[in-house]
Amino acid sequence: MNLTLNDRFVKDFVTANEMENFLKKAEDAKQTVLNRNGKGNEFLGWLDLPETISAESLKEIRDTAEQIQSLGSYLVVVGIGGSYLGARAVIEGLSSPFHLLEPNRKGVTILYAGHHLDSDYHSKLLAFLENKDFCVNVISKSGTTTEPAIAFRLLLSLLERKYGKDGVKKRVFSTTDKSKGALKKLSDESGFKTFEIPDDVGGRYSFLTPVGLLPIACSGFQIHQLVEGAKSISKELKENKDPKSNLAIRYAAARNALYSKNKKIEVLVSYHPNLFYTLEWWKQLFGESEGKEGKGIFPASVQFTTDLHSMGQYLQDGERNLFETVIQIESAKSDIYLTEKSDNGDGLNYLAGKTLTEVNHQATLGTLIAHHSGNVPCLELNLKSLSESTMGELMYFFEFSCAISGYMLGVNPFDQPGVEDYKNNMFALLGKKGFEEKRKELLSKLI
Ligand code: PA5
Repeated sequence: MNLTLNDRFVKDFVTANEMENFLKKAEDAKQTVLNRNGKGNEFLGWLDLPETISAESLKEIRDTAEQIQSLGSYLVVVGIGGSYLGARAVIEGLSSPFHLLEPNRKGVTILYAGHHLDSDYHSKLLAFLENKDFCVNVISKSGTTTEPAIAFRLLLSLLERKYGKDGVKKRVFSTTDKSKGALKKLSDESGFKTFEIPDDVGGRYSFLTPVGLLPIACSGFQIHQLVEGAKSISKELKENKDPKSNLAIRYAAARNALYSKNKKIEVLVSYHPNLFYTLEWWKQLFGESEGKEGKGIFPASVQFTTDLHSMGQYLQDGERNLFETVIQIESAKSDIYLTEKSDNGDGLNYLAGKTLTEVNHQATLGTLIAHHSGNVPCLELNLKSLSESTMGELMYFFEFSCAISGYMLGVNPFDQPGVEDYKNNMFALLGKKGFEEKRKELLSKLI
């Protein structure tokens, strides 16, 4: 395993006995997950994806990715929430921060649409694509989500204008439910190549289905290694019965123990800008899984050391209702050595001979000690390096931990009933058929 968890900066906040208790509860919750007899167990399909995804499915995804790569330099991924964040987490996690500016990179450049309703963004995207060759992967399990549906409608019009109806057929790839939803119907009628999202896998747990794998493969990354990484940690998390060494049990136990001590906010911290979207994906995973029935740890995120200069003051000294989980990547792909300068004008000669990774590491340790002294419990997640395989490990670890943690809280970690409220209000305010009464009710509130 390439992932470890250190709870040395939590021990002052939770006694050994209390932690023992939470570890037992977490082990019970893990059994509920494995026995498939807890709330929402019809959505546990993600649990065995690393073991069950077939070589043929991976090949079909890779072949399609090659086809997409041969058709142009851009793929627009249209999706929102769980239908794009997993892919984006992996792609941005493994790409150069300057990948959009670098020509000749392997794989196509991925652009995103349908994850918000901003007009300027979408009109700039359409203008950018006007004279580029591109394909579209539209992803929606329900096939009815408004944001991606609108973006897809706009992109489809552009594709039709550029390539005609026949050209469009070659350039649109849909990923949706096997039988229901407007997207499935449209895809069948239009003859788009379509990948299925299994019934028993919810959006935020779907990075190992075509939802995540197709865009990741198009970017030139090795999807079988991603699956292998997830598989290696899946075996360990499922089979290791020792609560004191099972990482998911320890993580779920620690966060629930801290929640019981009024630590209501978990701040996921990274010292690596490539992980920005991994943090975004994590927030959705935990926020949508746990935040219900008036309960749940609020997931927040910061990028250090950048945000130490904006959020550092609050974290050190503000309200003490939070804890941190710090992700650290132990080794860089390309390290930089700091060298001595004869004039030492900047006073940095004391760093000569050190790598930037070591400086980042000491910044991490210094911050951990400071925040712990400021009464912030801190968990440390250390990942050896960043690769397809370790991203697979990390993300599957979070999924497994989230299921355990949700059951410890007593909620269904696989539904998201609260997301419907804004949608219904939006439909009513926009005048959708069937929402007339709701519209009257809402308009009366806006006076
Ligand atoms: O995790 C989830 O289930 C959600 O975030 C969905 O992925 C998101 O709402 C998009 O839904 P759909 O794929 O149906 O368009």
